Amino acid sequence: MKSLVFGLLACVAAPFAFTSPATDSLLEYYQRDSQVQASISEGKQLWFKSQFINGQERSCTTCHGLDLTLTGKHQRTMKLIEPMSLKVNNKRYMNEKKIEKWFKRNCKWAWGRECTSQEKSDILMFLLAE
Ligand code: HEC
Repeated sequence: MKSLVFGLLACVAAPFAFTSPATDSLLEYYQRDSQVQASISEGKQLWFKSQFINGQERSCTTCHGLDLTLTGKHQRTMKLIEPMSLKVNNKRYMNEKKIEKWFKRNCKWAWGRECTSQEKSDILMFLLAE
């Protein structure tokens, strides 16, 4: 099973010009944990999915914006957030701890709960592809 998951990972990761050691090992970990192949289209849906939390409509795009190549803005603090797309920001997704920290914080903020490994691998694949 292990080699199957790694085999699938190699296939899905191959189309990207960019992966870092951090994203490689996180994707490997998430997919081993969920036993499900990551899907860019699922990730896209999750990224745009909105929920009502504390009477406020929230999604990942609330702060990161609808276009990943543009600067976002934190809904509460109004601080600017550098673009998420690697096409315009090559500092993204370099550090495993940073990625995990923000997944944890932002999933709770936007969806009221932590994201599952499956959701994280789908979203990360989508973000790397955008
Ligand atoms: C309340 C505002 C806000 C929302 C909503 C939000 N984020 Fe973020 N996100 C941030 C901030 C602030 C950072 C850290 C600053 C930075 O990396 O530019 C960040 C960083 C990240 C990173 C780290 C990127 C890297 O370079 O390592 C990931 C991954 C991420 N967010 C995913 C998500 C996902 C998935 C959602 C939806 C579930 C989401 N964010 C919703 C504010 C938000």
